[in-house]
Amino acid sequence: MQIFTERRSLDLWVAQIKTERKSLGFVPTMGALHAGHISLIQASRAQNDYTICSVFVNPTQFDNAEDLEKYPRNMQEDTKILKDAGCDAVFFPSVTDMYPEGAKSEKFNFRGIEKQMEGRYRKGHFDGVATIVSRFFEIILPDRAYFGQKDFQQLRIIQELVVQRGYPIEIVPMPIFREKSGLAMSSRNARLSEKYLKEASKIFKILNMIKDWRNQYSVTETIHLAEDQFRNTDLKLEYLILADEKKLKPIQSWDEASDIRAFVAVFADNIRLIDNLKII
Ligand code: PAF
Repeated sequence: MQIFTERRSLDLWVAQIKTERKSLGFVPTMGALHAGHISLIQASRAQNDYTICSVFVNPTQFDNAEDLEKYPRNMQEDTKILKDAGCDAVFFPSVTDMYPEGAKSEKFNFRGIEKQMEGRYRKGHFDGVATIVSRFFEIILPDRAYFGQKDFQQLRIIQELVVQRGYPIEIVPMPIFREKSGLAMSSRNARLSEKYLKEASKIFKILNMIKDWRNQYSVTETIHLAEDQFRNTDLKLEYLILADEKKLKPIQSWDEASDIRAFVAVFADNIRLIDNLKII
């Protein structure tokens, strides 16, 4: 596996692949890799001649200095995991490589899909994500890029980014990878104590209850029932929204959209977790 820690040598590798007219799959990550990331690497390997993964904890998408500081980082372990997964290359850029003019985001307008949920509760988050992902796309020039549906709003933002900027890149959405308990895999899970790991597994159970309730209750009643369930846990609910999958606008009635998802963010002992489930 090729390991790139600076841009110049990566540019040569990318240029060689383009000269050979081979396809390149890209898996952007912030490291602390788990089985969910590996499923993206495997999908990319199956669909492309070469696969590259980036590992970069992007400072501009954090609105909380403590979260940025505590975000798990393990370059050696990540390198080993990627090698074992058969990844062809990894890019570990420095902050100055990605932000030569200082760590600042560009401003984006995603026609409203950035406004709810993560966009509302994490100010500037999607400007940071779109800035870094567009920079990676322009350096790596992938044919396909892989994004997990756990960050569903992020996936929709990236789909919109590709259209707005005219990048010739296929965005491949990948299913959420879950622990046996149902907890969605996340690099942040590594910070959960045993007690909170157990509590966090209730998120998926409540999301499934919502799916059962939709035949019996209105949207408002369903949200109230689910909020009651969260009150019976040690999780602190930040938001619970039922929204249309395309525009990510909260719905008021079940017949408002043909594809509806439940989205949730909670704090488990100060560690912020998100999840979602397709309801219709
Ligand atoms: O989902 C993530 O890990 C990050 O938001 C991403 C896409 C790598 C951008 O920093």
